[in-house]
Amino acid sequence: MTTAILGTGSYLPENTVSNDELANYMDTSDEWISTRTGIRRRHISKGETLTDMAFFAAQEAMENSGIPAEKLDLIIVATVTADCITPSEACLLQERLGAVNAICFDMNAACSGFLFALNTAHLYLQGGMAEHALVIGAELLSKIMDWGDRSTCVLFGDGAGAVVLGKGEHGIKNVIMGSDGARGKALLCSGRPLENLFIKQEVEFPYVHMEGQEVFRFAVRQVPECIEELLQQASVRVGDIRYFILHQANIRIIQSVAKRLQVDIDKFPINLSECGNTSAASIPILLAALNRDGKLQSGDNVILSGFGGGLTWGAVLIEWQ
Ligand code: UT7
Repeated sequence: MTTAILGTGSYLPENTVSNDELANYMDTSDEWISTRTGIRRRHISKGETLTDMAFFAAQEAMENSGIPAEKLDLIIVATVTADCITPSEACLLQERLGAVNAICFDMNAACSGFLFALNTAHLYLQGGMAEHALVIGAELLSKIMDWGDRSTCVLFGDGAGAVVLGKGEHGIKNVIMGSDGARGKALLCSGRPLENLFIKQEVEFPYVHMEGQEVFRFAVRQVPECIEELLQQASVRVGDIRYFILHQANIRIIQSVAKRLQVDIDKFPINLSECGNTSAASIPILLAALNRDGKLQSGDNVILSGFGGGLTWGAVLIEWQ
């Protein structure tokens, strides 16, 4: 027995913002954003909290799986934008769901966060420490964007995706994860400044800062490498993969990975154009959409692959149950 995805769900804020609308606020254009990134619009919260979004995504995943809240014994939320420093987002969500039997914690691995959380839950299930787990990737990135920095703020969006996990004949087969803290400054968002009785640091408000080209170069090298390693480890041929569900950061990264793997781009589902980059939420949002549309068939081999802040990366091979 392995760990199966029993249900999926997602939530996107009601408010959508097109590239043209952004151009009313800053020196940018639909032409620049869409040709450089593939993004046409994104969802930006006008009031939904991270807990609201995670809750709606979780509700759909639980309904889809048939697993009620009291049967969840683990909740992990992957996020860098939790509503509170404490309680954790997972604990806030536990209360809203009434998942009274779950142990709850958050995980920060930026855009790879959902995959790191998925693997952690998998190990809990395989270790006999949980029967059913809820894993969420949720981000309210609009609150950590510098809206005066057009090179980052046009890229990101808000949203949440969720999966319910349980034991199954088919499911997670192989996992590759990696981190390189030495290159972490390429995608940085500082924490609160040190301020106490003895010191007051004068620092700017902590917004996201990204060395776009450095992260781009990292992604186009690291992602295909880790997918190739995963395929080799699993003894599965690239042609046997139904879908490559990549973190949605830039269409040019996805095209480059497809080219390097010599795989038709049609096998790379995309929601980047509608959602922008939603960091830890992008993979489960995309997975939920494919599942909702009936595009995942029993026996399909699917690879999920994430990359980003840390720097971190990972790939998971799943046989759809
Ligand atoms: O999820 C985490 C992982 N993140 C990623 O994978 C992101 C990876 N990086 C990228 O996707 C790309 O590097 C970006 C989309 C961020 C940037 O694309 P780029 O082709 O690397 O552009 P650039 O940063 O080299 O900027 C080119 C020009 C610059 O102007 P000059 O210096 O050539 O005159 C920028 O000032 O584009 C300018 N620019 C813009 N122009 C209009 C930067 N942002 C904008 C903008 N609108 N929003």
